[in-house]
This record gives sequence, C-alpha cells and structure tokens, in this order.
Amino acid sequence: MTQAATDPVALKALLQWYLEAGVDEAIADRPQDRFAEQARALAARPGPAADRPGLSDGPMPRSPSERGPAPAARGPLTRPQPPAEVSDQAAVKDAVAQAGRAETLEALRAALEGFDGCALKKTASNLCFTDGNPQARVLLVGEAPGAEEDRQGLPFVGPSGKLLDAMLASIGLDRHGEGDAAVLISNTVFWRPPGNRTPTPSETAICLPFVERLIEIVDPRVLVCVGGPSAKTLLAQAQGITRLRGKWYDYATPRMAAPIPAMALYHPAYLLRSPAMKRDAWRDLLMLKRRLAGAAGA
Ligand code: URA
Repeated sequence: MTQAATDPVALKALLQWYLEAGVDEAIADRPQDRFAEQARALAARPGPAADRPGLSDGPMPRSPSERGPAPAARGPLTRPQPPAEVSDQAAVKDAVAQAGRAETLEALRAALEGFDGCALKKTASNLCFTDGNPQARVLLVGEAPGAEEDRQGLPFVGPSGKLLDAMLASIGLDRHGEGDAAVLISNTVFWRPPGNRTPTPSETAICLPFVERLIEIVDPRVLVCVGGPSAKTLLAQAQGITRLRGKWYDYATPRMAAPIPAMALYHPAYLLRSPAMKRDAWRDLLMLKRRLAGAAGA
C-alpha cells in the first residue's frame, strides 16, 4: 500500500491536488491505470523490448539504423491520427449539416445528443442545452457549463447562475417566466470543459453551428452575450468585454430574415470576483430593459 492510501493527511493532499488539476468527478467505481494498459499492449507486441522506448530496462538504441525495422502498425496505439485541423474541419462540416437540418429546438437538441464531433462530450456527464422559455424575447448565451451545470444538464444553475437570475430579476426577467418576462439561456459550448478550463477555439468552432441554429430557431428580439468569450464568438469582435459592453450590435446569419439587436454583459462569475463592476453591469441591464420596453409592441 502507498503512504497516501493509509495516511488521511496524504490522502487529503492527493485529493486536493486532483481537484486543482481539474479531476473532480469519479466516472467509474475503480481507477483505471491507462499507463499499465498501454505497457501491457506494447509488451504483447513482437519485437525486441528496446524497440519500445521507455519500457525497456536495457540501453536505448542510439540511431534509427540501430533500432532495425519498425514494428508493423497495429491497433489504436499506433494508428496514425489525422492532423487535428483536418478532423476539426470535418467536425465543423458535420455540425453545420446536422444543425442545419433541425427545424425545432427539440430536433436541435436531438441532433446534439447524437453528435460526437466535440471532444468535450466524452468527459461531460450531461448535455447542457437550454433552460427557460423557448418563446422568450431574450436569448442569453454564456460561455460554457461548469460543474453544477454538468451535473444537472442545465446552463447557469451554479453560483454564477444564481447571480445571473438576480440580475435578470432586477429588470423583470425570469428564466421561469412567461410573456415579456421570459428568457431562454444557453452557452457557446454545450458540454463542460474538464476542470472548467476555457473551451479551445476548435471546441467553440465545432459547437458554433448549433449555437447559430439555436438563435435562428428561437428568433429572439434581443440576443445577450454573457461574458467576453461569448461576445467575441457571436459578435465576431476581437476586443475585450470592457470595450464590447454598453453598445448595441447587429447579429445576423444568412438564414435570418433580418438582423437582431445584440449586446454583451459582464459575466456574473466575473462580477462575483469584481463586485465594483456591478455598477456598469446595472447600466447594461437598464440598456436592455429600455430596448425591450421599446420593442414591447413591435
Ligand atoms: N458559466 C457560463 O458561461 N455558463 C454556464 O452555464 C455556467 C457558468
């Protein structure tokens, strides 16, 4: 037994280390030693042990000629992978095709459930699609689900979701509301990135056709990008959120009859860390409220 297995202090330190590394979900009852699996698979192959770098106790060969012919490729360990960009492009193309076929939110959700092109799906517990009222005039799009969102399969239900709900309530909006009070909430990626890391550009690009189709189907009066990453992605802007907030933009896709007004809000997770910025966030909420009041009869 290792020291960590018996010493509660060492065990706690090990768990804390895992947590900080983003390992905060148990996905099986027993741990799987992938290094041992790989070693066993390589050891089962024909050829001298020295051909297997890192697995031999003997000296490493110094040059390719000393190594002799390479062992024949077999199994997933040696299958050449296409360059990442090529597989990403294929995934984006597939996403465009699948999202484009969806005519309703239910069909779009079903398409996402069957879509395996985004690697985030492999580590997530649940798809986080939308929460709220699909008939809403306001569609909010955040960045990515966190731990609580992943557990419940709903966007913005963790600590920043609670603040978002309070922000919306301050201007009479409610994810459980009807009519003018209703909102619908989603994200730019639909599965939680492991350890809450930032989604990679390719994960965002692969999910984007689904987000665009979501906006087309909901056809809201106003699109609200929650946080800098969402604003940059959807508004195709390079500036940070501090410069993007407080203004109106036009959002359009080729399938939309007319552009819709869009704005950016500070992310509630940022506001929790920087309460002084709530003042600007309140101004932005009032800007949204005024726009909705103007659009009420439109
Ligand atoms: N942050 C987001 O951007 N989205 C969520 O759903 C939760 C936290």
